[in-house]
Amino acid sequence: MEKFRISGGRPLRGRIGISGAKNSALPCMAASLLTPETVTLHNIPYVRDIITQRRLLEDLGSTVLTPELRTNKITASNIELFEAPYELVKTMRASVLALGPLLARFGKAKVSLPGGCAIGTRPIDLHLTAFQALGAEVSLEAGDVVARAPSGGRLRGSEVRFDKVTVTGTENLMMAAALAVGTTKLHNAAREPEITDLAELLNKMGARVRGAGTPTITIEGVEALGGAEHTIIPDRIETGTFLVAAAITKGELEIYNCRPEHLAIVIAKLREVGVLIEEVNQSTLRVSCCPKGLTARDVETEPHPRFPTDMQAQYMALMTQAEGKSVITETIFENRFMHASEMQRMGARIQIEAHRATVEGATVLTGARVQASDLRASASLVLAGLAAEGETIIDRVYHIDRGYEKIEDKLRSVGAEIERLRDSITTPLNAPEQAVAAEIA
Ligand code: EPZ
Repeated sequence: MEKFRISGGRPLRGRIGISGAKNSALPCMAASLLTPETVTLHNIPYVRDIITQRRLLEDLGSTVLTPELRTNKITASNIELFEAPYELVKTMRASVLALGPLLARFGKAKVSLPGGCAIGTRPIDLHLTAFQALGAEVSLEAGDVVARAPSGGRLRGSEVRFDKVTVTGTENLMMAAALAVGTTKLHNAAREPEITDLAELLNKMGARVRGAGTPTITIEGVEALGGAEHTIIPDRIETGTFLVAAAITKGELEIYNCRPEHLAIVIAKLREVGVLIEEVNQSTLRVSCCPKGLTARDVETEPHPRFPTDMQAQYMALMTQAEGKSVITETIFENRFMHASEMQRMGARIQIEAHRATVEGATVLTGARVQASDLRASASLVLAGLAAEGETIIDRVYHIDRGYEKIEDKLRSVGAEIERLRDSITTPLNAPEQAVAAEIA
């Protein structure tokens, strides 16, 4: 397994560019299944989950061309398989995003029920209940979800109310409803920027989606959808992660190719604790820390536009450096504090009680050997390592490769002392790049 070795205590200084949002690219890639025409997506991040999603689409029969590393031209004109196999779904639960489009266009879909992951059980019951509201028959067969449109092959528009806000549930239903007969209304819909980005792509393809970004989304079904070209929004969580990196190392960064309005609540919270953040323009932030030091402040994770759960671990790392006690409440996932025990090994003072973590700061962190457990926990351990005195070794960095494009290169470019320790047998994250490079040549 590959590791990171970090020598901490160096302020970061310089400029970092933000990659496309993984959590927008994944549904947008799935949306290509809704049409036999080509969907071209630009600003796709080069991360492991995208490679997995590409493999899933190719397994279903799509053609995926990459004229350059961050552009995917996807054509689903020859779909012969209507199922997402366990091998892929178990590595990336976002594979369930194939359900909605396959059901909508072909009237059938089979997806292995995604198991839980490190942060929680991650059920998809809300997706399935909503598909049934659109007339689908849904059954569980040997660990697979099997869904079929009513006889006649098309879903019927309906009213859907999600009991809980679900991001991929909202995305799955937007795609399913796009080709349904009649109109669908999604109530208590997720409002993340990635939802709006998917709606923009669907409308470019000829869909009629209104209200994305609000709690009620209306989708008027159409007969067929066509191809389109779309640029994926910047990754707001990567942006937030680098804001914290500047603050926790007492450095100064200019972050470009970002969309500050997509992480307004994160910027507000970081300013509240003493981080200086200037919005230079609509795609650039300047961040520095913190003449008066950092002050501990509580935070509670909630659906967008409130504080994102995907920034909780990174915020906790920062709070270890803030004066005072902060209470971090995780309301979205049931087990998203695994990074806390690793930070404690670096000297952090954190008490966990159910969904609540209490951090006592400021503490001097010392480098240690720690283990990544999920994508955002890994990022928080990199941040802690950058702030710590001495050397930190982070195991299982494949977690971080799922959602951060070449994070060690970006950090090294602004002065971090971080390197990737490869095993003798390199895990081939680079191999697809070589394959892609060959394809471009
Ligand atoms: C998306 O996951 C993101 N992933 C997650 O990012 C993010 O943490 C999460 O939304 C919350 O913002 C992608 O977009 C690919 P949910 P998703 O459905 O859609 C419960 C990352 O780090 N729930 O909004 O799977 C669920 O258990 C990843 O990039 C049900 O009970 O999350 C959770 O408690 C991690 N039944 C809550 O709702 C369902 O059918 C929110 O889950 C669906 C969800």
